[in-house]
Amino acid sequence: MYDILIVGAGGGGLYAAMEAIHKNPQAKIAVVSKVYPPRSHTSAAQGGVNAALANKHKDDTIELHTFDTIKGSDYLADQDAAAYLCEMAPKVVRELENLGAPFSRFPDGSIAQRPFGGANRHRCCYCADKTGHTILQTLYEQALRMGVEFYNEYFLLSLEHQDGACNGVVVMSQRNSKVMAIPAKAIIMATGGYAKMYWHKSSNAAGLSGDGQGVALRAGIGLKDMEFVQFHPTGLRKSGLLVSEAARGEGGYLINNKGERFMSNYAPEKMELGPRDLVSRSIEMEIRHGRGFESAAGSFIKLDLTHLGKDLIMARLPQIRELAIDFEGVDPIKEPIPIRPTAHYSMGGIDCDVSTRTEMKGLYAVGECAAPSVHGANRLGGNSLLEILVFGKRAGLELQNDLPTLKPRSMNERVAVERQERRLAQFYQPDHHERLDVLRNEMGKTLGENVGIYREKKNLSKGVEEIAALRERFKKIKVHDNSRVFNTNLQQVLELQNMLDLAACVSQGALAREESRGGHSREDFPKRDDANWHKHTIAKFNAQGEVELSHKPVTMGLYPLEERTY
Ligand code: FUM
Repeated sequence: MYDILIVGAGGGGLYAAMEAIHKNPQAKIAVVSKVYPPRSHTSAAQGGVNAALANKHKDDTIELHTFDTIKGSDYLADQDAAAYLCEMAPKVVRELENLGAPFSRFPDGSIAQRPFGGANRHRCCYCADKTGHTILQTLYEQALRMGVEFYNEYFLLSLEHQDGACNGVVVMSQRNSKVMAIPAKAIIMATGGYAKMYWHKSSNAAGLSGDGQGVALRAGIGLKDMEFVQFHPTGLRKSGLLVSEAARGEGGYLINNKGERFMSNYAPEKMELGPRDLVSRSIEMEIRHGRGFESAAGSFIKLDLTHLGKDLIMARLPQIRELAIDFEGVDPIKEPIPIRPTAHYSMGGIDCDVSTRTEMKGLYAVGECAAPSVHGANRLGGNSLLEILVFGKRAGLELQNDLPTLKPRSMNERVAVERQERRLAQFYQPDHHERLDVLRNEMGKTLGENVGIYREKKNLSKGVEEIAALRERFKKIKVHDNSRVFNTNLQQVLELQNMLDLAACVSQGALAREESRGGHSREDFPKRDDANWHKHTIAKFNAQGEVELSHKPVTMGLYPLEERTY
């Protein structure tokens, strides 16, 4: 029996593990991860991490960062959580610096800070355009040094609980498909996001399938604000891979087919550094009105960096240059990059509060899989790496107080394991015939077409129906590979189930929310409706596995509701 089990080995999971060990030195602690930790998706975060260090603008403050975050969220952020995020930012960034993260520097030796979307000061600390990668390496190295125990390449199958308290998880070893239970007094879920449900139109790696949210939903836990999916404005045209906001932060332009910097029509003050929801909508609008470029791989807009020069691109944006060359055959030093918006981030997640506690005793959630509501309806770039650090640390800290109050609960391991073995056996039944690739492509297609950047009732209803039909067809899905060794066919079927369950929450939440706010833009309800919709959505499964929606108030207290303009 572990005292604390952390599921997920990205930045949030690793920071939680380190803090948990530090604050609970006698406790038995382990991390379970479906990938080898340095391959976690934190490594894909490019542009940086926000903190009001005031290295560039001496007048930057924690209050300004908090205000930008709350305004960016279209006032759906819980203000206590947003304030905590911003207050802790300088502390965690300095902590990271002391742990050895190789931040880029200003000539005076201080941590360099670049402008990022929706922010009123240059606040984003970075390591060239490989910030997530370097942070992840630093944390993994430190976690190993501190003696964190790892279960690498174990896939999460279920969250076990009794009488409102969790008592462990059931996982499957990818090496041999063996199912096993891991009992634990406390569990910190840190499994990342679910934007891969948009499949070909996503910046996310294939494994970003919302596994933690999926098991939580099926364990009866509420998911918050699932309808809010962030489309990053600049994904590569063909693959959807991320081209960091840092490219615009360093001075890149967005250009339509008339050669215009069209953002002057949408965000005259902030231009390309408007918040992501606004810039993505602007790109879609340009394309809709025939001002995009056409290609066999679809319509696109150009991101022009050529005026920045080779030296700056090589020093601060080397990774996106490599990605543009490898995936588009375009060298940004010489010509503009073809881009289009791409599903990037899930604002929604496991409902928790600023302390990372969920409604289930002993269960905590951090990072993209969680919704303490720091991002509300739209996240600012650079606040995601920040969130995993701040709330990873907070979970470890909370457990210093909570652990003595969490009683060891016996778990019937045999029953829990057999339940999951029966679930897996279903996928091999002779009458099963549905194909993984077919269902997964259809899921991505219907979400992209019907639950995308712009939404309206007819399309959303179609999306809801099609996801329901796919969930029905999933009951007859077949795993064709009988191997027990690294059976990726089996793992991807399990991931698809998570994505389909979460897609039901996303599409139904989006259909129900009859207003436009942040990343949720309804053409039939184009205005924000604070009177009726200034509230969080909570999605739960009923006994039949159908989504039921309810609501929760937004925590205010710092900044009153205001119109959001840039
Ligand atoms: O654009 C980017 O570099 C992404 C950063 C983020 O999602 O915070």
